[in-house]
Amino acid sequence: MAGRPPAPGDGQPGLGDGRPALRDGRPGLGDGRPGLRDRPPGLRDRRPGLRDGQPGLRDRRPGLRDRRPGLHSLTAGRGLLFGGDYNPEQWPEHVWAEDVELMRAAGVNLVTVGVFSWARVEPEPGARDFGWLDRVLDLLAGAGIAVDLATPTASPPPWLGHRHPGTLPVDESGHRLWYGARNQFCPSSPVYRERALALVADLAGRYAGHPALALWHVGNEYGQVCHCDVSAEAFRAWVRERHGDLDGLNEAWGTTFWSQRYGDWAEVIPPRRAPYLVNPTQRLDWARFCSDALLEHYRAERDVLRGHTPGVPITTNFMGLFKPVDSWRWAPEEDVVSNDWYPDPADPLFPVRAALTHDLTRSLGGGRPWLLLEQAASAVNWRPHNLPKPAGRLRLESLQAVARGADGSCYFQWRASRFGAERFHSAMLPHAGPDTRLHAEVRAHGAELRRLAEVAGQPVPARVALVHDWPSWWAMEEAGRPSDRLSVTGQLLAYYRPLWERGVAVDLVPPSGDLSGYALTVVPNLYLVSDADAEALTAYVRGGGVLVVGPFSGVADPNGHIRTGRFPAPLRDVLGGSGEEWRPAPEDRPVRCAWADGTPFEARTWTELMRTEGAEPVAVFTEGELAGSPAMLRHRAGAGVAWYVATLPDHDALAELTGRALADAGVSGALPGPPPAGVEAVRRGPVLFLLNHGDREAHVPLAEPAEDLLTGARVEGGVTLAARAVVALRP
Ligand code: GAL
Repeated sequence: MAGRPPAPGDGQPGLGDGRPALRDGRPGLGDGRPGLRDRPPGLRDRRPGLRDGQPGLRDRRPGLRDRRPGLHSLTAGRGLLFGGDYNPEQWPEHVWAEDVELMRAAGVNLVTVGVFSWARVEPEPGARDFGWLDRVLDLLAGAGIAVDLATPTASPPPWLGHRHPGTLPVDESGHRLWYGARNQFCPSSPVYRERALALVADLAGRYAGHPALALWHVGNEYGQVCHCDVSAEAFRAWVRERHGDLDGLNEAWGTTFWSQRYGDWAEVIPPRRAPYLVNPTQRLDWARFCSDALLEHYRAERDVLRGHTPGVPITTNFMGLFKPVDSWRWAPEEDVVSNDWYPDPADPLFPVRAALTHDLTRSLGGGRPWLLLEQAASAVNWRPHNLPKPAGRLRLESLQAVARGADGSCYFQWRASRFGAERFHSAMLPHAGPDTRLHAEVRAHGAELRRLAEVAGQPVPARVALVHDWPSWWAMEEAGRPSDRLSVTGQLLAYYRPLWERGVAVDLVPPSGDLSGYALTVVPNLYLVSDADAEALTAYVRGGGVLVVGPFSGVADPNGHIRTGRFPAPLRDVLGGSGEEWRPAPEDRPVRCAWADGTPFEARTWTELMRTEGAEPVAVFTEGELAGSPAMLRHRAGAGVAWYVATLPDHDALAELTGRALADAGVSGALPGPPPAGVEAVRRGPVLFLLNHGDREAHVPLAEPAEDLLTGARVEGGVTLAARAVVALRP
């Protein structure tokens, strides 16, 4: 989980939702063990990257995923999905009937059931109590409400930890974490795996063919970690796969540094608490391993489910730009990509962060419709000070996801809990009951989503690609770097924001992704890059693409070793310039720069000593030792154009640069010009969504008459949007 809430406006530190790390006892990067089915999680070229046969974003040839069931099986006949996590085990049975009646009245057509029900269905080892779940599913089926049935393996019951302490995770210091919260499992524990899979098999066997079962939900928000000895053994096996032998390991980890040479596999351990900075490549491989080990467990559960119900789609809920899980590797293993999204109501950049997160989720599924599986109806309970959502924001946030490709908008949770750690978390049905402002909003929104049924399945076409890579993120933010003020998600947001402001649609892509359909590719930061990916970026430009590369990119190879020579070494030719020093700037004053025509602008935090080698210096530093040296380069290379940015320009300057790069690429936004400030414009299929995130009325002129699907009103000449208003216009 992200460490602290993002500081508004500075783009730091990221897009996480700001949940405290301890909220789930999720200590950091996970552990786990590659099982027999695990493919070697080696270098990019050895993994099934998008270029190696996975359907790329632009590649719509029928691949494996197209033959699998998807969201269509849920939306056909139902339209957009609306609902939430439903935890009936927290309530006496007589409440269930009321729940279902209120759900129907609210237009709920999908609920996620059983996420935390392990102790209820297996009250003691090997026992099964499915009777209550039968009755819940029957009730829901009777009401025509589809069920996203969860494998309850995210929160094992106390008996498992008590009888098998080895299933409990161990932190970096060797301390075991106890039961009493949730997520307390070691992903590599054979006992945990065996118990979890046995339960999943019985669950799948029992509910295969049940009329309510529409979707499987594997685990919950994977991100668990464990540093125990079993995990260490699994890590060794993983490292052996990747680096071959000890010589390979010593070479890759650079163990001649600080006398770290390994002479015996038994000496190789997870990064544990040590007196000073731990080997960065060891930590990078650990991060890769942790994501892969959890993925292996996810796959094992998924395969059990598939065996019983090949026609039922499978998902697991992601958490957007969540660092521990390399979602590019995970998403192809799902039938439906889903996400949980909990923006901070106090964050002024929340609409931009939300849009970026939604675009990522859509892109993870190769552009297919996705599911917003969890969001809060109003306040969460896990920030220090939990603001409610102001009236109108529930629908605004939900429709924003729909506009960006979601075919469903669901909440955590249906009915507010009376007890437990989340008793103060908002819900679709608050403690105060149905006769409340919040529940009235929920009902109204459920009703209006029905009017958007025709949007289901529609694509959000984009001509701009934004590159994001998990291993590069892990490597770049490793301790002992020039500045921790440069953050990967901060840079992503900074480069995304001007595109969002112009209403330009964006897909996210991994560095190995297929760029052929994109006129502009933006790489805010790609610290770690393989030769193959650098060559592909170069070929993309030479073939006519426009590329923008942000600072501190192309620095390291896939082992995190610095590439020598002038930087960014593998992109130097295509960028037509190179650098020799990374120079973090004093934070108490801006970095002064100017465009080539002399117009000044400010940057901050970071500078690089560069020179041109064929590129035009479109902007220069104007002060201090760097005065006159290039701050931005633009280079015509082959049929395309490459830009490089050697600092962190302020928002206005980055917006200017974005405008120039878009002009190079011939890309425009959803409207002929940029929408008014605060208004988001996005096209989904034939429908133009306009969302006013601002607190003031805004007017958007329109070229053609349209119908607002939300109200049925005819709109001509233009539309005036009240604060927080949304229209969905079909010509
Ligand atoms: C999610 C989780 C839910 C609930 C929610 C509260 O991370 O999946 O179970 O805890 O957060 O915001």
